[in-house]
Amino acid sequence: MSRRRRIYEGKAKTLYEGPEPGTLIQFFKDDATAFNKKKHEIVDGKGVLNNRISEYIFTQLTRVGIPNHFIKRINMREQLIKEVEIIPVEVIVRNISAGTLSERLGIPEGEVLPRSIIEFCYKKDELNDPLVSEEHITAFGWASPQEIDDMMALAIRVNDFLSGLFLGVGIQLVDFKIELGRLWENDIMRIVVADEISPDSCRLWDIKTNEKMDKDRFRRDLGGLVDSYQEVARRLGIMNENDPKRGKGPVLVKSDKT
Ligand SMILES: Nc1ncnc2c1ncn2[C@@H]1O[C@H](COP(=O)(O)OP(=O)(O)OP(=O)(O)O)[C@@H](O)[C@H]1O
Ligand SMILES: [Mg+2]
Repeated sequence: MSRRRRIYEGKAKTLYEGPEPGTLIQFFKDDATAFNKKKHEIVDGKGVLNNRISEYIFTQLTRVGIPNHFIKRINMREQLIKEVEIIPVEVIVRNISAGTLSERLGIPEGEVLPRSIIEFCYKKDELNDPLVSEEHITAFGWASPQEIDDMMALAIRVNDFLSGLFLGVGIQLVDFKIELGRLWENDIMRIVVADEISPDSCRLWDIKTNEKMDKDRFRRDLGGLVDSYQEVARRLGIMNENDPKRGKGPVLVKSDKT
């Protein structure tokens, strides 16, 4: 591992050159950051859990035909991915009001939104990833109108799929962010889901208790981050204490709510 060329050192992950051209290795670190790195801690075991959870979700995305960068998990902390040209726009999908939406618009946290809302943020740490509109994205050439359509369609498909996946295990998908990238295959370019999908990038609330099972535990100093990520993994059937290597598929959790 030490000989591999490091391509990018991110906040939560490191990218290394992959074994074949057009591939990369994504290494999941234990670093937790929030508020643009103003808050930073090492959370033992987070990287391993995010690697497993993200692997599981991307594998299911492939199964339902949602194009993405994932090839395979290599070990506890690393996965092999297809190298893409990341579009510098994060796509956020919200089902329930929380976080910055609640702050900006004064909508109480936990209110179910009239419909799923898509937001775009310009990926620029120095500027705190500001909210932008389609106008900004096309005017500054970050993505074309056609690409924006594709990004939105993909984000909605991911939302529908993830909402159902999590609901089946007693978890409400409040919101999430994805990164997308351009992937060329022969002469054809398509937009695919990249980066990670994990409790670092989603808001996940327990259906019965509304307990937070995501990075808000860190942002809001609630503690128990690894325990709740582990619980997400356990409910998805990815990990259980005796057999960390074999997935058994989602575990049905009955909900009182309908
Ligand atoms: N398939 C891919 N090909 C190329 N780059 C990728 C791919 N998937 C993810 N990335 C990029 O790898 C980096 C992952 O590292 P990490 O998530 O730690 O970054 P970060 O410090 O959070 O910065 P960012 O704000 O850019 O996400 C991100 O910059 C992400 O855009
Ligand atoms: Mg990131």
